[in-house]
Amino acid sequence: MRANGLLIAIDGTAGTGKSSVGLAVAAKLGYGFLSTGEMYRALAYKVFEKGIDPASHDEVLALAQNLKFTFERQPSSALKMFVDGEFLGPKLHLEEVGNVASKVSTNKEARAVLTRRQREVGQNGGVVMEGRDIGTVVFPDADIKFYLDASAEERAKRRVKQLQEAGKAADYDAILALIKERDWRDSHRAVAPLKPAEDAVVVDTSRLNMQQVIDFVTEKISQYAS
Ligand code: DC
Repeated sequence: MRANGLLIAIDGTAGTGKSSVGLAVAAKLGYGFLSTGEMYRALAYKVFEKGIDPASHDEVLALAQNLKFTFERQPSSALKMFVDGEFLGPKLHLEEVGNVASKVSTNKEARAVLTRRQREVGQNGGVVMEGRDIGTVVFPDADIKFYLDASAEERAKRRVKQLQEAGKAADYDAILALIKERDWRDSHRAVAPLKPAEDAVVVDTSRLNMQQVIDFVTEKISQYAS
């Protein structure tokens, strides 16, 4: 156990509810919650804003080195992220930003910069950290690791429902294609590819609702802690 409690890693494919599960579990434990995808999304947003080619290795790296990430713990448990003092919020969750994030996250040196910052946040424990490579690269020594997955079709259905509930237009086929493209890129990149850590608890969420996943993860953590 670290100074502030356990370090819990939640990895998995996009759209499996990692963030909702992670936040709920962190709130139950009184821990902080960090979604590391937000950091890749912030880098992508800045790349997009400055008109940089996401494939331009040196320019993306220089930008990553110059971004200043700060975090403020919220009553919800979330670690609210500020980039150069600015809260970027919902802008980071546009479909296009997620896709550019998946591209810039193939940049090995830029990943190293973000990984270093993530380690600073989690090293004392008392944190649930969610991403793609937390259990494999950022914290291979995490106290407990989860890997959430679901079929691409199920995840596309969930995303369409989410967008419709927010009153936005949603095209199932386009969303499914984007999810498959992102999965392929995330799991085939040379650096820190998406895969379950050998000691991760793998959870197929295709037939589970959010509450069932939260209950399962909570139960595993209490078994570990007892
Ligand atoms: O979890 P998310 O959809 O917000 O992540 C956006 C992208 O960031 C995702 O396609 C891959 C990348 N990412 C990563 O490479 N490593 C992480 N630890 C988190 C996200």
